[in-house]
Amino acid sequence: MKMFRQIVTTMLILPTSLILASCSSQNDVAGADPAAGDPGVGVAISEEGSGVHVNAITEAPSGFDNLTNGFSTQAAMDAARDSFETTESFADGIGPVFNNTSCVSCHQNPFFQTGTGSQISELRAGHFDGVNFIDHPGGSLINDRANDRSIQEHILSGNEVRTFRTTLSLAGDGFVESIDSNTLLAISLNQPAAQRGTFIQVPVLEAGNAVRGARFGWKNQHSTLLSFAGDAYVNEMGITNRLFPTENTSNGTVVQGGAFDGNKVEPGSNEDAADNDIDNFTLFMRSMKAPPRGPITAAVTAGQASFTQFGCAVCHVATITTAPAGTVINAGAFTVPAALGDKNIHPFGDFLLHDIGTGDGIVQNGGQGTRNQVRTAPLWGLGSRTRFMHDGASVTVSDAIARHGNQAATARTNFNNGGATAQANVLAFIFSL
Ligand code: HEC
Ligand code: HEC
Repeated sequence: MKMFRQIVTTMLILPTSLILASCSSQNDVAGADPAAGDPGVGVAISEEGSGVHVNAITEAPSGFDNLTNGFSTQAAMDAARDSFETTESFADGIGPVFNNTSCVSCHQNPFFQTGTGSQISELRAGHFDGVNFIDHPGGSLINDRANDRSIQEHILSGNEVRTFRTTLSLAGDGFVESIDSNTLLAISLNQPAAQRGTFIQVPVLEAGNAVRGARFGWKNQHSTLLSFAGDAYVNEMGITNRLFPTENTSNGTVVQGGAFDGNKVEPGSNEDAADNDIDNFTLFMRSMKAPPRGPITAAVTAGQASFTQFGCAVCHVATITTAPAGTVINAGAFTVPAALGDKNIHPFGDFLLHDIGTGDGIVQNGGQGTRNQVRTAPLWGLGSRTRFMHDGASVTVSDAIARHGNQAATARTNFNNGGATAQANVLAFIFSL
């Protein structure tokens, strides 16, 4: 129901033909139930403004220098970085099950830029019954660590769907959060039908689960950095917080408040109440600059031309403009400040889900239709990575390109037929990002 109400504002920025297209795509997800945390595919939400820029559009600042992009003062960013880098202990509430002991323990490479990515991956599992994906008991995330061996999670038999997910970089994510949902919807509608990305809306935890256009995580499971921070604090580190007050189970067995629950909180408690670290993490992430480019050589310039010509840029979109400063986003919970609004970013991604034949079979917030879809990997910052694709199973970029099928099959064929020089140039271009 919510979605029909939202069509009105969509009309302000999209031509009528696109509105019709968006209405019909909504019908494709009959059965999606926002109340069940499964809002599925829909039209863009309304609160995100008209998209009209009265200010000049400028380039988003970039750099791996730990300096603020202007969202916060340097002192505030440094204090928030400290929270992001703090190792939590049992007394702080770590566990009962967890993956690592600080945000930076996974989000760091290069060393001197906190908040980027790394080779560290996570494990997810579940069961496909032929129609639906069903979460592993206790949720599809299988935590790799526990406070005690007796509560260590393991993949139980009957859960034949398994995948790894590599750590994503957070550099520039404040700009990504500041993209109007309608902009993402418009990118989807402008893609050729056979390659069209799926636009989903997911609950904004800090706005009472009102939905917003998704953009974060390999499955587009979140739309805001605060929602993701709360999720990461409980799921990566086992620290409950005001958005996620319930500890993870061990393979479905409740261990909250038991002998191996750090801080021994009771159900409904908040291990983050004193510090509100999730706000610090969010401030830090919103203050991060975009990844800087490497040297732009002749090969890099030629490579970008071939990349576009081969059709890679249909999904790996070169430039996206953030919403005008002053736009109210995140279902009312955040207003785009001047430091993040009216900015051009170059993520080389569309923040939409696609089926390129690599789908991991897991369903999170997008509904069953997204089982075999993955968000287009934004290629910015790729020069700092060694393992590619959601599972990290491709250890060269050429291998990653070779895995592109289905919606990306034509682009892969174009690349394969492009000749050695163009292929080398495309690789040079990608490593310059
Ligand atoms: C065990 C390693 C690990 C730890 C610890 C960790 N992360 Fe992550 N992070 C990941 C992985 C893996 C992903 C990709 C997850 C996915 O999409 O399935 C990710 C994704 C993210 C994203 C989405 C980025 C994007 O652009 O889509 C955000 C935001 C994030 N993490 C924030 C945090 C914060 C804040 C903390 C600390 C509370 C944290 N992470 C702790 C591994 C980790
Ligand atoms: C139809 C959309 C689409 C097209 C076209 C496309 N890609 Fe991708 N690309 C994706 C998706 C989706 C992923 C993530 C897949 C995964 O992780 O399973 C991806 C991942 C990648 C990665 C891995 C990045 C990382 O950080 O792990 C590279 C490199 C890449 N693409 C390059 C290319 C090149 C080069 C072309 C053109 C020959 C291309 N892509 C065309 C959708 C597309």
